[in-house]
This record gives sequence, C-alpha cells and structure tokens, in this order.
Amino acid sequence: MCGIVGYVGSKQAAPLLMEGLRRESYRGYDSSGIAVLGSAPVSFRSVGKLEELELKLKGQVVEGGLGIGHSRWATHGQVTEENAHPQTDCANNIFVVHNGIIENFGVIKKKLEERGHQFRSETDTEVLPHLIEHFFEGNLEEAVKKALSVVRGSYAIAVFAVKDPGKIVAARLSSPLVISLNDTGGFVASDPAALIAHSRKMVFLEDGEVAVIEPDTFHVSDLNNQVKKKVATELDWSVEEAQKGGYEHFMLKEIMEQPEAVANALRGRLLVQEGRAKLGGLERVEKELRAIGRLNIIACGSSYYAGLAGEYMLEEYAGIPTDTDLGSEFRYRKAIVDKNSASIFISQSGETADTLAALKEVKEKGGLTLGIINQVGSSLAREMTAGVYNHAGPEIGVASTKATSTQLAVLALFTLFLGRQRGMSLTMGKRIAEELQKLPALIQQTLEQAPHIQRMAEKYATAANFLYIGRKYSFPIALEGALKLKETSYVHAEGYGAGEMKHGPLALIDSSFPTFAVVPTDSVYEKTVSNIQEVKARRGPVIAVATEGNEAIQELADDVMYIPKTLEMLTPILALIPVQLFAYYMSVLKGNNPDTPRNLAKSVTVE
Ligand code: AGP
Repeated sequence: MCGIVGYVGSKQAAPLLMEGLRRESYRGYDSSGIAVLGSAPVSFRSVGKLEELELKLKGQVVEGGLGIGHSRWATHGQVTEENAHPQTDCANNIFVVHNGIIENFGVIKKKLEERGHQFRSETDTEVLPHLIEHFFEGNLEEAVKKALSVVRGSYAIAVFAVKDPGKIVAARLSSPLVISLNDTGGFVASDPAALIAHSRKMVFLEDGEVAVIEPDTFHVSDLNNQVKKKVATELDWSVEEAQKGGYEHFMLKEIMEQPEAVANALRGRLLVQEGRAKLGGLERVEKELRAIGRLNIIACGSSYYAGLAGEYMLEEYAGIPTDTDLGSEFRYRKAIVDKNSASIFISQSGETADTLAALKEVKEKGGLTLGIINQVGSSLAREMTAGVYNHAGPEIGVASTKATSTQLAVLALFTLFLGRQRGMSLTMGKRIAEELQKLPALIQQTLEQAPHIQRMAEKYATAANFLYIGRKYSFPIALEGALKLKETSYVHAEGYGAGEMKHGPLALIDSSFPTFAVVPTDSVYEKTVSNIQEVKARRGPVIAVATEGNEAIQELADDVMYIPKTLEMLTPILALIPVQLFAYYMSVLKGNNPDTPRNLAKSVTVE
C-alpha cells in the first residue's frame, strides 16, 4: 500500500507534492520520490523515510507547476533508489507513480525487452511507462488506456508525459484514488488526507476509471472512452481523520481493510483451474520443498497464533508433520534442526528480535529457512533462504489485525502449494482455491456484524476477566482473541483449548466470568458444544462465534456472533474478525487508545 500524489496548476508543484507525501507517509515509508515538469523534467528519489528525500531536495531549485510523487511500500523489488518511484520509459518522456501489483508484469517485460526496451529496476511497476511508451503517439490519455487494457492486477497510477504536457492522467483498479480541484489547480492522491488542506470537495474514482486532470478541470471516462459523470463528496474531516479513512483509530481502519488486504495477499497466487498456488518466492526452493518431511513454524505473539492455525492446515491438508514454536523459547531450546525439515518464520515487522535470533539458530544448523513477512526488505526478509510477502500493507495499530488474517491466507496458500506437491488431489486443490477466492467477500460480510459486536462489548464492559475457548482451528483464534483483549483493553483474558477446561480453568467459572467460545460448525463442533454446556452448568455467561444458519446455538449461548460458512481450514480467518472487533470496542469503552497500548511497541526489536 503505497501513497501517490499529483498536482498540475499555477503553483510550484514540488512543495505541494512533499506536503501530500508527508500526509500519506503512514501508507508506505521505505522509499519515496517526486518528478516535476518545468522547462525540462526533473526527478528525485531516495531510500528511507521522507526526510531523506527532503534532504536531497534541500537547496535544489525545482521549477514547474506539474508533478507527481510517491511514498513506497515495496512489494516487488528490494528497497533501493532504482526501485523507488517515479519509474520512467526509455526516453524519459513518460513518468509513472503506482500503488498496487501488476500481476502479469513478467510476460509484458519479456515482450518489451524483445522489442528493445531497457529496464532499470526490479519493480513490476516499470512495465507501465515502457508499455505507455510503446503505445504513445502524442496523446497520453490514449496511450495510458491502451497500456491498461493489457495489464492484469491492481493499480492506482498518476502519469505525465513531457511530450504531452499540461495534464496528469490517473487511473484506478482496486487501489484507491481521489481527485480534487481548487483555484490554484488540479490534485490527485491515494487518499483524501493528502488533499484535504487544499479542498474539501473530493471526487473518488471507481474501478476501471481514467481521469485526465488539468489546472482548471478534469474529465473521467473508462478504458473504452465511455464518459463517466462524477459527483464530488464534501468531506469535513481533519487531516488525522483522513489518514484514518474517517475511522476513529488505525486499528478499526485496519480491521475494516481486511477484505482488500486478503485480496492483495491472494492476488496472482491462485491457479484455480489447476487447484494450485503460485508462490514466486518459493520457486527457487521448489525441489528442496518437495523433499522435506517436516516443517517447523517459528514466530511471536499474534504471528505465532497464525502459525499454530497453519500447523493444523499443513498437517491435515498437505500431510506434512508440523510443529510451532515461540521464537523466544526456540532460541534457547536446544532444538534439533533436522536436515529433512524446513522452518517457516512468520513476522509482520520482520524485525522481531526473538524470531530473528531463532532464524540465526536454524541457519547456523544448516536448516532451510522460509518466511511469511509483511515488511519488505526487513531484517528477517533479508536473512531468509526464500519467502512470501503477505502484502497486508503498513499496519500502524500496535495490535496486529490485517497482518494476522493475511498471514493465515498465505499459510493456506503454502498448504495448497506443498499439498499439491504431495498427495492432495486436483479436486481438493480446486476446492481450497475456490474457497480462498471467496474469502474477501466473506470477510466483508462478517464485518457487517460490527454494530452487533459493539453492543456485545457494551454489555460485557464491566467484566474483569474473560476466558476464550476453541478446539482445533479455533484454538489459535481463542488464544489470539484473548491476546487482543489483553493488549488493547487491559482486561485479564486467557485463551484455552476447550477440551482443557475440565483440567483446571473450569474452577474460575461463575456468573461474573464470561467465556468467549469460538464454535463454528466443523468437525469438532459437538465436542466444543459439550464444553460450552460445562460452562453453562456453572452459570458462566457465554458469547459464541458460530456459523451462520446455526440456530441451535442460540439456545445454549447468551450471545452469538455469526460468521459465514467456509472450509474448516479457512474458518480461523473469519472467526478472527469478531474477536478483533470485540477487543477494539472494549478498548474504546475503557477510554484507551487501541492504536498505542501502554507498555507495548509495534515492533519488538529487543529481547
Ligand atoms: C500483536 O498484536 C502484537 N503486536 C505482538 O504480539 C506481535 O504480534 C508480536 O510482537 C510479533 O510481531 P511480528 O509479527 O512483527 O514479528
């Protein structure tokens, strides 16, 4: 999730672009760049936070009222200056900034190289300026539309051409884009946060729309030149509110972004007809992976709980013996690293010290190291033998939410990838791929429960303790639910295997001690119901997360939150949503700021 901005008008573009990027910097912050067209085009790019680019621009005279800018959250290509945006064509005529993923960039790049195009970066984005150059005959809008009808994937782009000046062409497919006008010129950006200081009237582009923005006007059409009539939306948000997309906290925004985040994690990685997963990052170790006989997942906190659910998936559907270890324990446990095994390290930040130390342990013992990492270019990502990014985009709230659901989606892709290398049938492969494809819509459906879950939080706001229970795939979600409540609302909560209750925790239960039971209709449903009956027998209040259509559970539980039906191995991704929302609303009810919980850090880089 990068941030893009653009301006064309009577003012100097450079300071406006930098101000816009500053306001969007929470979207991506590993590198940035601007390009401005005055009497000649100039471009500045740098690695690191925006301040690095500001330093580069210091003392530079950047003339010109037309420009585009970008703050990067790398997905393809390391964090380098060459990979920063704007990207250009061979003739330095076309300048492009892009937020999204071009899935078929490999095929296009090859074809363009055969036609003599010289590529300078490792990015998927660079195919866009070269493709536009390929179609450019003096009319930028036309060339952009021809180029976009060839690419597949997601994009929000802003483009200018030296040989067709005075305008910015912008287009969107899946990634957000907003334009606005004021008496000094036309603006484009990834979100209103970058524009709200210049105008409160925003025009949001829809998928498939292309806008041509000029100093005093803009027009919108689709790739087939059908004109689109656009209505402006008046926003009364502050900049901070705009950065949160109108939500009160980043945590709620990131919970609500999960349909798009999971769609990005799956993008270009599902071969549904073949019932396979395409994981480019694992291709170079495909042979080794075919030969391994054991997996070991290592992580901390919420990433560890995602790993635990992954263990169930990999054993049940890929038939590979799998263990899951806490990074902080693994690094001191004299773990036997078996040559016939691979270790999967999971981390949102890619900087967690305990996980990093465990990785070094495994490498020293010659183990094959794989990763599921969110932050591109992070220490863990650089240390791995191979890996897959989960593309959740930047996660600002300390409490991990969309990073966890995208880690689970990538673990399901791993299961498909390794399962089809082994005994998994085409039918089962297709079934998993089809169900994965439905996930973003099913998550959206689950999010519609938010008002109901908010009422639940109000009902249980005074409870001093909570128990979260679940079996099999729901056990890790019970653990994660308890962690979310602890770290955001500072209420004591414990996650437990539902079958363990009678071995101790049942002693805690009375009418003041609520139990959150994750009980989807799956292979252990009956077992979990009997554990709920044990709680009810001690007058313990029960909040159940159950599968839509299950009316019977209403007889047993005091309150029910429903999730849509899906494959058993994918239920954790849906059951995650109610426990995240419950913790969020409890935290707000307690008067806490869920984005910056006390005593915690987003990235734990110390032991
Ligand atoms: C989760 O909400 C917490 N922020 C924390 O437990 C986190 O999951 C843990 O520190 C691991 O972080 P990582 O995924 O960045 O390695």
